[in-house]
Amino acid sequence: MTRDTTNSAETAAIEMRGIDKTFGPVRALVNADLVVEPGTIHGLVGQNGAGKSTIIKVLAGIYKHDAGRIKVSGQDVPVPTPAGIEALGVHFIHQDRLLSPTSTLAEAIFLRHEPKLGPFINHTAMNRDARALLKRYFDLDLTPTTLIRNLTTAQQKVVQITRALAQSAKVLVLDEPTAALVQREVDSLFQVLKRLRDEGIAIIFISHYMQEIKEICDRVTVMRNGEVVGTVETAHIDVDDIIAMMIDRDVDEMYPPRSIEIGKPVLEVSKLTLKDAFKNVSLTIRAGEIVGLTGLVGSGAKELLHCLFGLKRPDAGEIRIDGERRSFRAPNDAVHAEMAMIPEDRRAHGVAINLSVAENVSLASLRRYCNKGFVSAAAERKAVDGLIQDLSIRTPDRRTQVRNLSGGNQQKVAVAKWLSCQSKVYLLDEPTVAVDVGAKVEIYTLLNRLAAEGAAILFNSSDLEELVGMCDRVLVVYRGQMTSAFDKDDLDSDRLLAAASGAATTDVQEVA
Ligand SMILES: Nc1ncnc2c1ncn2[C@@H]1O[C@H](COP(=O)(O)OP(=O)(O)OP(=O)(O)O)[C@@H](O)[C@H]1O
Ligand SMILES: [Mg+2]
Repeated sequence: MTRDTTNSAETAAIEMRGIDKTFGPVRALVNADLVVEPGTIHGLVGQNGAGKSTIIKVLAGIYKHDAGRIKVSGQDVPVPTPAGIEALGVHFIHQDRLLSPTSTLAEAIFLRHEPKLGPFINHTAMNRDARALLKRYFDLDLTPTTLIRNLTTAQQKVVQITRALAQSAKVLVLDEPTAALVQREVDSLFQVLKRLRDEGIAIIFISHYMQEIKEICDRVTVMRNGEVVGTVETAHIDVDDIIAMMIDRDVDEMYPPRSIEIGKPVLEVSKLTLKDAFKNVSLTIRAGEIVGLTGLVGSGAKELLHCLFGLKRPDAGEIRIDGERRSFRAPNDAVHAEMAMIPEDRRAHGVAINLSVAENVSLASLRRYCNKGFVSAAAERKAVDGLIQDLSIRTPDRRTQVRNLSGGNQQKVAVAKWLSCQSKVYLLDEPTVAVDVGAKVEIYTLLNRLAAEGAAILFNSSDLEELVGMCDRVLVVYRGQMTSAFDKDDLDSDRLLAAASGAATTDVQEVA
């Protein structure tokens, strides 16, 4: 494979050469090159911790590189600064930078570029322009005064892209923009990106979804352990070749085989109802069972998980654990009933980013390491190191602050935290989003181990292949009703998709 196929006569929109960056002992970037032409969509791929976000943050002026040269549209930029790089038309939608939840949609779009009326912000013009931009680029009718915290993740991404477009971006960098989106939202994002490319904008697109990379990118740069392995034209390569470049070991079996005896019912839910979310949902999960759950955004699947974990109070119905009726006023009650939940929004609810890996992992399970009220340091260390190893969490050591790990590795810490607490029931909400291929297999293996130990697992995911590969049964929620249930032998991602989008239903014994 040639190291670089991007040496064309045209002036590159972005040219980064020989970039080095270390964080203490970690060599995050080693002599890395990234060259992106205008009017192309350029993929950037690699396993968790490969250096994707770091090279982007060097360009953004968030991290200072130790060595290397950077040019933007042919112009030397010795040390990028956030304001300077934006002035050159390079805009970023970072993996881990959130919008201020209390600003309005229009304020977020025009942040630092508000239209003025004398010394004051011209709110009328700002709201009008925000509405017009959303309509023009996304054909969306959103109220410009809506607060960011009331928008879905997809809408927040849209707001961030709109902000870049409002500033006439020449280069748009998206770090895992689709991780939290459903297929329909991904499709409309891709439409927009293709249109922007055709208008001559250069787009850098980071994703763990290889099909997406193949579908939308003209070229792809593959990183591994801080190095650039190569840059290739996607038309000349298939997904397997990209994966082979990404990993230095083989992933032979994506979904590890499992033969577990199914035991007695552990979680029994009957006629659970939450107004405006879902109605009369009944289900039973037995010891050793992994039951899938899927549904489009707004289907009610997510709210169902929230009710089961005490984050929301159901209006009717009952929940039993080991036959005993339970009602949860708060997640703490659910934890006492030996339930664990891995929430989707892990940065907000899943990990404490200022604490160390060890502190996070042992936080939820402290009582396990207690001996007569004292925490046994040795037992804790051993358990934490075991999980770091099991999930291949890439961290210098267990004392490293979680904020210094790559996005996917932060995710793994959140998963490890709850997997370490030996519960009877596990509620998983999109546990493998933003996690690379290798780590997915490790999470699946751990889930199988928990099931083998007798746990009951409810696995909510929008990755249908994953549900087919992992679950004993899959339940589909459509518009607040459980409309279909598929047994292992009938599982098939096309049928799941049809059911989730309301195109087909099967008999559901569990629907009351
Ligand atoms: N601020 C930091 N301090 C210390 N180490 C860091 C910091 N930021 C990143 N690293 C380390 O640099 C390496 C590369 O991380 P980076 O975030 O670039 O990975 P990535 O390719 O974006 O991975 P992911 O797919 O998980 O988001 C990792 O080992 C990470 O732990
Ligand atoms: Mg990253």
